[in-house]
Amino acid sequence: MLSLSDLDVDNRRVLVRVDFNVPLDADGTVRDDTRIRAALPTLRALRERSARLIIASHLGRPKGAFKPELAMEPVGARLAELLECEVRVPDEVIGDGVTKLVNDTTNKQVVLLQNLRFHPGETKNDPELAAGLASLADAYVNDAFGACHRSHASVVGVPAKIAARAPGLLLERELKSLRRLTHEPDRPFVAIVGGAKVSDKLSVLVALVEQFRAGDALLIGGAMANTFLAAAGGELGASLHEPDRFRDCKTVLEKAAARDIRVLLPTDVMVGHGLDTPEATHLRLGARPVGNEEMALDIGPDSIAQFGQILARAKTIFWNGPMGLFENPAFAQGTLGIAKAVAQSEAFSVVGGGDSVAALHESGLADQIDHVSTGGGASLELIEGKVLPGVAALAPDPAPFDSDPAGQADADPYAEDGE
Ligand code: 3PG
Repeated sequence: MLSLSDLDVDNRRVLVRVDFNVPLDADGTVRDDTRIRAALPTLRALRERSARLIIASHLGRPKGAFKPELAMEPVGARLAELLECEVRVPDEVIGDGVTKLVNDTTNKQVVLLQNLRFHPGETKNDPELAAGLASLADAYVNDAFGACHRSHASVVGVPAKIAARAPGLLLERELKSLRRLTHEPDRPFVAIVGGAKVSDKLSVLVALVEQFRAGDALLIGGAMANTFLAAAGGELGASLHEPDRFRDCKTVLEKAAARDIRVLLPTDVMVGHGLDTPEATHLRLGARPVGNEEMALDIGPDSIAQFGQILARAKTIFWNGPMGLFENPAFAQGTLGIAKAVAQSEAFSVVGGGDSVAALHESGLADQIDHVSTGGGASLELIEGKVLPGVAALAPDPAPFDSDPAGQADADPYAEDGE
């Protein structure tokens, strides 16, 4: 694979695929610009070398149609502030107007294409869209780590048509950091996995347990822990849990036991009577069942302390997913407690996934983490040992890539009726 410095970019049109899929406020402004800032080193390096920048990203899931609330202008405005230069945003993804705008650029000028997913061909890896995008550029750089697990036109179709292609600095850093987790990590290796559903993260749970050795540990929190607890006979009242995943939970636990891997589930929880409950009630599991009207919405202080003890001894930590209903301050303590424990640990630490990263930023602890990943799904797929299609597409002579050889992918989340 070439690297950014190998590309001849002087006065060339360089298409940079970034992941500017950022949260927006109700007034349309960018709420969190972490992903925009993360791409700045690549964009600045290219401008310093007099490249003409054509930046491309998706924003949300507009399903192939123009949606005014997902237009790129607010992102362009934030990028212009950060790069301290003008950023032009055309109305379309491709078309004559875009081609003219791009061809009229001179050294160091910046165009941010319209939301790639306004074009129905993006998520279908449409060859015509890929050809249209490729015709705008002399070189291609992929710095969109968070989108590299998607076989979309701008991620895999475009690089197949441009020989001068390389990863950006962010993508290189992401791959290097995540590789430290999958290739001979320092042990004990402790993974903390949270979030709502076992079904979303089953493959990563299995992959972790299979990679772990005796002494490593898996800590499970969030609503997905409810499913594990219920599978073991716990009475969880109205708590979110997935009865159709009980067998999967048992399989994870059996695999772990066979390999002498510790799996820790919460021993206490914070319960409420609904998602908006303003105050949480502490409940030690086993003392009484969660009531029929009650929901477990966070891990409790005993669990935070137990998880913290394991994290304090870890040499490598990976964390993905919140420990509870972090959006409600009454149920944010578990996630914040884990954020603190990971930040205080001396282990090599990697955190990925929207809510866990948001908790780190909110608590001001992000700079105490070795690597805060910009990709949730992409980082999980790397941990699972998968090759990301966007990375494979940067190889000098990429093999035909089948991202779903067993045909087991979930329903297309970008289709009209999917999500
Ligand atoms: C993300 O936010 O994880 C990436 O931007 C990918 O977005 P997607 O899940 O909509 O493909």
